[in-house]
Amino acid sequence: MSGNVLILGATSAIARGTATAFAARGDNLYLASRDLEELKRIAADLQIRYGVKVAYSLFDAAATDTHTAFFAGVLNEVQELTGVVVAFGLLGGQQAAREFGLAEKIIASNFTGAVSILSICANYFEPLKRGFIIGITSVAGDRGRQSNYVYGAAKGAFSLYLQGLRNRLFASGVRVITIKPGFVDTAMTFGLPGLFLVASPQTIGKQIVKTLSKAADIVYLPGFWRYIMLIIKHIPEPIFKRLKM
Ligand SMILES: NC(=O)c1ccc[n+]([C@@H]2O[C@H](COP(=O)([O-])OP(=O)(O)OC[C@H]3O[C@@H](n4cnc5c(N)ncnc54)[C@H](OP(=O)(O)O)[C@@H]3O)[C@@H](O)[C@H]2O)c1
Repeated sequence: MSGNVLILGATSAIARGTATAFAARGDNLYLASRDLEELKRIAADLQIRYGVKVAYSLFDAAATDTHTAFFAGVLNEVQELTGVVVAFGLLGGQQAAREFGLAEKIIASNFTGAVSILSICANYFEPLKRGFIIGITSVAGDRGRQSNYVYGAAKGAFSLYLQGLRNRLFASGVRVITIKPGFVDTAMTFGLPGLFLVASPQTIGKQIVKTLSKAADIVYLPGFWRYIMLIIKHIPEPIFKRLKM
């Protein structure tokens, strides 16, 4: 059955893969991000290829004072939503560990912005007693590493938030799915050293949509990352602090 899916951070490569997979199964889309021209191009492409309706508008995760009006605008356009995907995020690089200004942007893009818009979405879905919320966090949120611990801390906080939200919304029949990708070939990781087992954003997008037909709550993508992170999480701290990760 087709629905109306809101995708936030829709210009991201993983979000495009996800939007394509939703459109391929007949869902109409509402795409939102900070680049209106790019949204226009993505919307036109999906409309032509899949014959679905695609609306779009500006959305800045960090501008939390605009989120209530933004969501009202979405509902005005689509009347009813079946689900929402939070795909926006900012990696920010090593400097974030030394400059609070950059750290704050990373926390706003990966955590507080997501909490702000999902508070509104959760209050919308809860009384309807249906719907889904998909949050894209990261394996980086499973353990603090010297290479990206501000990003990791923000993603870890987002994962915990989604867990609590899932617990709250379970009784209402609203699904909350946590997606934890490993390395994906996107602008975010372009040129980074030491990447391995890199997945394509198209494959990850298809797998994200597939999670809706499964019972899983927390999904590592590709699935083998569950085992990699299990090992990483169990390395004793006295050893872990000596590793260059
Ligand atoms: N690539 C990976 O290896 C990987 C691994 C694990 C998790 N993830 C997560 O997967 C998600 C998608 O990332 P990606 O790899 O597809 O990277 P990407 O192509 O760089 O996309 C990141 C997106 O986030 C948007 N964004 C950043 N700050 C925003 C804000 N304040 N408001 C609205 N949009 C904002 C960017 O929009 P602009 O173009 O306007 O900046 C961009 O569209 C992110 O949450 C990322 O953390 C990625």
